[in-house]
Amino acid sequence: MTAAIGRDAPAVPPQRLCSSAELEEKGRAVLFDVLHYREPARAFAMRFEGRVVAYLNRCAHVPTELDWQPGEFLDSGKEFILCSIHGAAYEPRDGRCIAGPCGRGRLTMIEASEDGGDVWWQPTRDTLPHRPEPAPI
Ligand code: FES
Repeated sequence: MTAAIGRDAPAVPPQRLCSSAELEEKGRAVLFDVLHYREPARAFAMRFEGRVVAYLNRCAHVPTELDWQPGEFLDSGKEFILCSIHGAAYEPRDGRCIAGPCGRGRLTMIEASEDGGDVWWQPTRDTLPHRPEPAPI
């Protein structure tokens, strides 16, 4: 009997993202490329209240990137993730929308952890590593 395509595919191991020291508390996030449902997308990881959190860089209101400068996601009080387009505010701990046009939406969380002084993210069947080709010179 033939297995369904992808059903028995081996799990993708955790991917190293950066050193733990690169993520300062409520500082600039590290951006990384993924394939989300086979489409290229950007994700980010940041440190918030000591813990590393990671999300797809995609607003729940309109599927556009959130950051107002590359890697800058937090509001001026450094309490919420803000969308730079229409100002949706998200809870950094769980990605839940708490104000603005994102309604009951939430950011797509990516599992992240720290081990051995490094930050790792865990691919899933839906969200896989992506290493785009360098642009031609
Ligand atoms: S696109 Fe994010 S609030 Fe509208």
